[in-house]
Amino acid sequence: MKIVEVASELFPYVKTGGLADAVGALSVALADHGHEVSVFLPGYRAAAEHKDALGAERRLRLKIELGDQFFTGDVRVFSPRKNLRIFLICREEFFDRRGLYGNGERDYEDNADRFIFFCKGVVEMLRLGELQADIVHCHDWQAALLPVLLREAERRHGVTLALKTIFTIHNIAYQGVLPRSVFARTNLPDELYHIDGLEYYAQINLMKGGILFADRVTTVSPRYAQEIQTPEFGCGLDGVVQTRAEDIVGLLNGVDNSIWNPAVDALLPARYSAVNLAGKQVCRAELLKRCGFAAESKGPVFGIVARLTEQKGIDFVLANADFFAGNDVRLAVLGSGDKRMENELRQLAEKYPERIFLSAKLDETMSHLIEAGSDFFVMPSVFEPCGLNQMYSQVYGTIPIVSRVGGLFDTVTDADLNPATGTGLMCDPNAASLRDALQRALALYADKPRHAAVQQRGMARDFSWQIAAKAYERMYQEAL
Ligand code: ADP
Ligand code: GLC
Repeated sequence: MKIVEVASELFPYVKTGGLADAVGALSVALADHGHEVSVFLPGYRAAAEHKDALGAERRLRLKIELGDQFFTGDVRVFSPRKNLRIFLICREEFFDRRGLYGNGERDYEDNADRFIFFCKGVVEMLRLGELQADIVHCHDWQAALLPVLLREAERRHGVTLALKTIFTIHNIAYQGVLPRSVFARTNLPDELYHIDGLEYYAQINLMKGGILFADRVTTVSPRYAQEIQTPEFGCGLDGVVQTRAEDIVGLLNGVDNSIWNPAVDALLPARYSAVNLAGKQVCRAELLKRCGFAAESKGPVFGIVARLTEQKGIDFVLANADFFAGNDVRLAVLGSGDKRMENELRQLAEKYPERIFLSAKLDETMSHLIEAGSDFFVMPSVFEPCGLNQMYSQVYGTIPIVSRVGGLFDTVTDADLNPATGTGLMCDPNAASLRDALQRALALYADKPRHAAVQQRGMARDFSWQIAAKAYERMYQEAL
């Protein structure tokens, strides 16, 4: 198949979260299965300056209409492996910035123009660059306008640009809600500013457009596909999702085992596997050192790697600060985002430097070291579309403590409720239930044979992307 993936993030070029890992691994897996894969990405500074992109060839000059103005740019392309081409939609004014969506304090004010430009750039490349896509697969709000833009362009020019469009919801909490005045920038017909179109409480909602106008809608776990049809998890779009109830499917992400695999992980001080865990002890010792914890620390090490947002249940962790300060345990946190959460974690780390550590940077190496060197991984999310770190944890022999929501529900089994099959510990998304799970973690850690059994079962689980990519291939084929 000729497959086009459109997303705002792509590992290893630009990443703020799991979207990058998921689209990166899916694209590579599809290319390796022999499909012709083209991935479109905004020409962010980090992508344009990546070593793979240095020799990128300029493919098309763009002149994009936004309302009654024209904006120029260009499309650059490079090919990092067989069957895979990366297209950057470039315009320095929009994308040559340090942040992707904002400056750390607030979102950029021209995000509407930036992402409408991006989607229109993809349409132009499909139209003039003769890509002839079988499937155009759009990810999250930044690409959500594309299905309707494509259909409009096809109508206007009397051509077929894509046989089928797919829209995947990676996180329904981020919808791209923009002022009504922005609608004119899309140049779409007025009748689409309607309750059955992009209109949303007198504003426009890009994700709503993706859900309504794509031929197929998917999300990243079966549980989340159910949850987002309810008011509790739908973030105001549950009614819209329900209109697609017949065909919405949840396809779990996988683990890219060329990158997240303790047996080959080049970012670790030592490698290891389920049959020989000696390397995990080396990683644990290195983690203790990096955090400034005593080398002889005996009690369990708890790790967190997360964007600091309400989603990740960081407040439940903060509410349990006395657990981490008052027991023989260590807590290593890698995360940045919400300033209040960051400050509260930093204060704890300053008050209890022998037990609590925070690094508020984006640090790929440290994220691998925490996965490998911790005994438990803490992820008590309020909601979690799929979640990757709980899968990485199992593969790295680090027992995940997760809440029973979304993809966490689908990928972890509670070891207390299921003694023969458990791979982690589960709680409800609140502080008291997390406390109970943390206490159960102490008991599990003290019971060496049981701890080893849970760890071995986690390490034996197969989350490989081959499975996930096959599911996407089947879905594409069915759509066609
Ligand atoms: P989400 O996409 O909601 O952030 P996921 O669990 O799907 O959650 O993916 C998070 C990804 O981002 C993981 O690969 C994780 O290791 C990475 N990550 C999060 N915060 C950081 C950080 N501060 N430094 C490095 N990697 C991070
Ligand atoms: C989103 C979700 C996360 C998911 C990732 C990749 O960022 O928050 O749960 O794993 O997308 O699909």
